[in-house]
Formats: sequence, C-alpha cells, structure tokens
Amino acid sequence: MRGIGRLKAALWEIAVRRLAPRPVSWSQQDRDSLHWFDEPRLPLQPHGLAVPAFGLREAAGTGELDMFLGIGDSWAHLANAFLPPDPVVLDIGCGCGKMARFLALNPSLRYVGVDVFEPSILWCRRAFERYADRFRFEHLDVHSQVYNPQGRLPASEARLPVADRATDLVICGSLFTHLHEPDARRYLGELARVLSDRGGALVSLHVEPPPGQAYAGDEWRIDVDEAYFLEMARAAGLAPVERIGKVYGQTVHLLGKA
Ligand SMILES: C[S@@+](CC[C@H](N)C(=O)[O-])C[C@H]1O[C@@H](n2cnc3c(N)ncnc32)[C@H](O)[C@@H]1O
Repeated sequence: MRGIGRLKAALWEIAVRRLAPRPVSWSQQDRDSLHWFDEPRLPLQPHGLAVPAFGLREAAGTGELDMFLGIGDSWAHLANAFLPPDPVVLDIGCGCGKMARFLALNPSLRYVGVDVFEPSILWCRRAFERYADRFRFEHLDVHSQVYNPQGRLPASEARLPVADRATDLVICGSLFTHLHEPDARRYLGELARVLSDRGGALVSLHVEPPPGQAYAGDEWRIDVDEAYFLEMARAAGLAPVERIGKVYGQTVHLLGKA
C-alpha cells in the first residue's frame, strides 16, 4: 500500500510539473495587459487584496511568491518601527504593492506609491481600490532604460508628486539599486524636500562596487560604496541617522533631514 502511495505521489508530481503553466517573464509579456493579471493560486478572498501575477512580481524584484510576501512583510514591520501616529508614507519605486499591501492594515496610515513602471501602478490602482481614500498610486513618467524606455523626463529632473515637508516616512526599497548617480542625487534632493522635519527615509543599497569604484553598474543593478552614498545624502541636505543592516541582502540606512 505504501509503495503504491509513493508511486501515486511521484506520478502526481511529474504531472503537476509537466502540466502547470510556466510563469512567463514580464519582459516577454505585453506591457499593456500585464496589469490585468492576478496570481491564480491565491484567488481573491472576501474583503481580501489580490496578489499580483508572476510577471508583475518579477518586474518588482522577485517573481517567487514566498519572497514577494516575505520581503513585503519585513519591510512593513521595519517601516512600522519608525512611524508616528497617523503617518504619511511615500514609497518610491513601489512596484506592485509588495510593502503597501501590509501597510494598508494600519487604518490611520496615508500612503502615496510612485513608480516609473506603469503596469505596476495600474495594477495597484485596481487592487487597492477600496483603500483609495488613503492610498494613492502615481505613475512617474521619467525615463528608465529598463522600466520606462518611453519616459518623457530624464530621471535627473524627476519631481515627486507630493508637497514639501509633508511626508513622515519615505520608503526606497531597492530603488537606489537601479539609479545612475545623477538620478540618485536628484532623488536624494527630493527626499530632503518632501520629508517633514522629524521625518525619515529608509533606503536600501547594494554595497559591493568593484575595487577602486565608488558607484558602479547599470539600471539592472547599481552598487555603491556606503560612505560615498552617505556623503551624497549629506550633499543633498540629509543626515545619516542609523545603519539598520541587511534586509534580504540589501544594506538599509535610515536618513533624516540635516
Ligand atoms: C527591485 S524593484 C523594487 C520594487 C518595490 N520597492 C518592492 O520592493 O517591491 C525596483 C522598482 O523601482 C522602480 N524604478 C526604477 N527606476 C525608477 C525611478 N527612476 N523612479 C521611480 N521608480 C523607479 C522600478 O520600476 C521597480 O518597480
């Protein structure tokens, strides 16, 4: 009986592996329709929030469902540690709501998510519709060779769609890992503009540039020397507050207003 059971399990596994649709990478999908797809294994539950399909998750760093949920959960808890009551949060490079879906559970939190990858923004607007009174998602139409090749403005001239000094916490999870140096300097300047006097920004970095280089890579992956980045932050009117440490392989810093 046991032998038959094991044989059945093995046959079942082979069938599932063969027959299960293979996840399709976002780079091979039509960008205009990406935002319509939800994860078929996690159908929408009553009062639930849809989970984006593989392609959108992959465009936001990882297609793996467990990593998507694990990283979002960790970042939301990290953000929570620095939030005042009734906080206003700005999430730059928000992707398809990996962090927003957990932040939405705080009923007094107001949130703006911005991203250059329009399918993610369109998906978020649909999925977060019932949070629309406190959650806003904006497409930033700046050029990115990888994420928004038709973008109108250079990223070095980007302006975030939020008022001066009105944000308590800015989240930049794996944003600076995709920005060339002039663009990163511009975004740091924008952080200084939008943060309230007691506000903070959580930024994650890859910190292994090749020897002799302080800032290296392309839009797929940027590495920066940590001390060099903190100097860039100071030059933009920010002050390093705390080195948080590694979160899922990226080094996170908390910055404040200088
Ligand atoms: C690795 S993903 C991380 C997404 C999200 N923070 C998360 O953890 O799921 C990087 C995100 O940054 C966005 N991005 C890249 N360049 C950007 C820019 N110049 N301005 C705003 N977002 C940008 C990409 O479209 C992508 O969604």
